[in-house]
Amino acid sequence: MAVREPWVLGRVLVLCVAVGVVAAHAIGELCTVPGPMSSAHAAPDSGDGQVATGQAVYLKHCARCHGEKGEGIEAPALIGEPANRLQSYPTAAILYRYVRLLMPLDAPDSLPERDYWAVVAYLLVRNGVIQENVPVGPETAEKILIKR
Ligand code: HEC
Repeated sequence: MAVREPWVLGRVLVLCVAVGVVAAHAIGELCTVPGPMSSAHAAPDSGDGQVATGQAVYLKHCARCHGEKGEGIEAPALIGEPANRLQSYPTAAILYRYVRLLMPLDAPDSLPERDYWAVVAYLLVRNGVIQENVPVGPETAEKILIKR
């Protein structure tokens, strides 16, 4: 068994490279994050529909700790002044990864992928990082810069 492990590892790496190319994502991200973080086929909603979905997801799964308006209760504020609350996350992709892996705090990685993209889109719109019609998903998230 031990003899086969390097071979198996090699295959996994090759797979990661292949998936990385197909998904046009950083290989390291794909291969270090557990779960199907970047299934390119799970296309997010785009535009207005995504933000509306994101607001519904937010109110249902996030507001009880972060506040109905993102003002913060027992958890940090996510929306509003000062400036941009999310600026410690350089890109939408990094914010997505944080939120999916850690939130909701008591049930991380429990929502459908499209709901995570939607709630990230909602937070970015409400913080004035992007316009409401910008789709947020695997193809766009690396390029959406949050830090100014
Ligand atoms: C059970 C309470 C709870 C729920 C529900 C919850 N969070 Fe959080 N969240 C927290 C706490 C507490 C922190 C601070 C964690 C820390 O500082 O380590 C946090 C931190 C965050 C941060 C980082 C804030 C910063 O200033 O860096 C983001 C972004 C975030 N949550 C998004 C969400 C989203 C989106 C949802 C809904 C999908 C959600 N959270 C649901 C408790 C919660």
